[in-house]
Amino acid sequence: MKGARERVELESEIEVAGQDFRGAFGADVTRVEGREKVTGTARYAFEFPVPEAVYAWPVPSPFVKGRLTLIDPEAALATNGVLTVLWHTNAMRLQSQENPELYLLQEPTIAYRGQFVALVVADTLEAARHAADLVVVEADTRPHDVVLTDRHPGLYRPVKVNPTYQTDTAVGDFDGALATASIRVDETYHTPAEHNNPMEPHASIAWWEGDRLTVYDSTQYPTAVATSLAGLFGIEPDAVRVIAQHIGGGFGSKGGHPRPNVVLAAMAARHVGHPVKVALTRQHQFVNVGYRTPTIQRMRLGADAGGRLVAIGHDAISQSSELMEFAEQTAVITRWMYAGPHRRTTHRLVRLDVPSPAWMRAPGETPGSFALESAIDELAVAGGWDPVELRIRNDAEFEPEDGLRYSSRGLVACLREGAHRFGWAGRDPRPASNRQGDWLLGTGMAASTLPARAMPSTAIARAEPDGYFHVLINAVDIGTGARTALWQVAARELDVGLERVRISIGDSAIGPAMGAGGSLGTASWGWAVVKACRALCDRLRLEGGKVPEGGIEVRVDTANDVKGLQPYARYSFGAQFCQVRVDIDTGEIRVDRLLGVFAAGRIVNPLTARSQLIGAMTMGISMALFEEGAMDSRYGAYVNRDLATYHVAACADVRDVEAYLIEEEDTHLNPLGIKGLGELGIVGAAAAVANAVYHATGVRVRSLPIRLDDLL
Ligand code: MOS
Repeated sequence: MKGARERVELESEIEVAGQDFRGAFGADVTRVEGREKVTGTARYAFEFPVPEAVYAWPVPSPFVKGRLTLIDPEAALATNGVLTVLWHTNAMRLQSQENPELYLLQEPTIAYRGQFVALVVADTLEAARHAADLVVVEADTRPHDVVLTDRHPGLYRPVKVNPTYQTDTAVGDFDGALATASIRVDETYHTPAEHNNPMEPHASIAWWEGDRLTVYDSTQYPTAVATSLAGLFGIEPDAVRVIAQHIGGGFGSKGGHPRPNVVLAAMAARHVGHPVKVALTRQHQFVNVGYRTPTIQRMRLGADAGGRLVAIGHDAISQSSELMEFAEQTAVITRWMYAGPHRRTTHRLVRLDVPSPAWMRAPGETPGSFALESAIDELAVAGGWDPVELRIRNDAEFEPEDGLRYSSRGLVACLREGAHRFGWAGRDPRPASNRQGDWLLGTGMAASTLPARAMPSTAIARAEPDGYFHVLINAVDIGTGARTALWQVAARELDVGLERVRISIGDSAIGPAMGAGGSLGTASWGWAVVKACRALCDRLRLEGGKVPEGGIEVRVDTANDVKGLQPYARYSFGAQFCQVRVDIDTGEIRVDRLLGVFAAGRIVNPLTARSQLIGAMTMGISMALFEEGAMDSRYGAYVNRDLATYHVAACADVRDVEAYLIEEEDTHLNPLGIKGLGELGIVGAAAAVANAVYHATGVRVRSLPIRLDDLL
């Protein structure tokens, strides 16, 4: 990272695309980098033409568990173009074990099948790939244990669940209230392992100049990558520069921390004295970058005769690897979604010989909402209540477990508007009551929510003597439109047209900033951009509006601003309504329509916001009907590792997906009043589909994905 006073020169500036919107906040502005993306000129991490770059290819463990006894590189080294083979006995020593998944090629232990145990470096990609197949790997193997069950003897209570939530909570007398409730639900729900499938697999280029390390990395979080690499290689964070200009998706698999690709590239570059390129394959990406843990969730709900929840219990089980503890926050959604006096939530975990799970879009809330929102639907059926009305009746005035006031709570507004837009009124609640030809039609709904947070970030704003402004922030656009939203925020604060503003993101040289994750990118970065632009305007006023030759630059950070937030319960909310049809002979399920209404504070760019919601809802359909990592207990691995055997919803699976945003003014969030919505749309979506399938067929499926044979 360069010094604060030095001007940051960026690798790839984005041309302003000639759109002219003054005060464009709230306008449907198309992507600032849209032309580059659709013409294929937007450069992704692997594509930068770095002179003298060579290629590295990882060797995955063919064993599930055990200890390496031999790595024989001879045949690989005899291959034309191979420069070196690295493994635990000859690879450079890494200086940090903080993240065991990144402590690569250091130890002979094997924690899961597919863990990287060696690396081949060659002067062409083809040579590296071919030679990687020739590396001989032998091990003393031990029996493995890869199947999550609710009776597993290894189940334990983690100290915290992600990111820092309490593991268990209890309010009132849950057991007593449940025992005396008029209507009860006690059911167990299963969600499978699910794998992030960004279009662009994980890739990096790394090179060293002395003790300075520069990487192009396909990451959601350059600041975290810089910090981790500094720790691993024992250098100052300022000596690492991470550039992440265009990212082809991540869904969490490129978030939170670096992935092996960038560490391997930097290690290999140290060894061979060349820049090194590493790109993981689609198959690697199913194993080595994290996935959503499978879950087993017991829901117990008790209501009084009037449909008021008196007891709410959610007990969640998930898995992690032998290497590290990753504790999905599956049940936390139940702590704030509905009112009710007697409550409990618990999380239990088991460490298996499986790849380490990690973040996947709305971690926790996504599997948790499938259980909670299915159970609420079951309660509605059991009590004879309308599921929309039941949710409205149990709306919370204060956060149920800690009594905090909500900064704003748009759930009821979303439920009402969604019901209206969808045409919910007059629905015949009887299951399997609507047959049209060979199809059974059904409708169902569910609610959505997500925490609305912000994290400190730094930003730079410059006034140039030619009348232009330049705003720089180490944000990342993973395909969300974040770059465009921040451009709009800057133009609005500076009170100029977009054509007068240049926006630069995706470079750790700009300074530390939050990553693209947790649906808190735009809130966090937008806050810093607002602060920088306001400080710049103040400076301009002091200068009498005159910009000196060298321009004016201000740099701000929002650490104290974020710390100064008052205690409020901050969440976005939504309601999703679904119509499905099920073929009476084949069980084929089609989602005719999924309609969501969301309350997420002020909306910077309705066009890109809707796209985020529609994308997430589509991912929810995919979760409901298709996605599942299939564990083969003998082989000890998820066996479907490509887009042919792991189906992600495609165009033909998705008919009518609509997302609407309701206006919400919230003055307790951040200067922009925005809540973030990148993940909100997937929360509850799978339950809305499952609830519609129940209504269509009378079959309640509590284990995802819903298969045709579940319905026959
Ligand atoms: Mo998202 S799973 O917070 O990157």
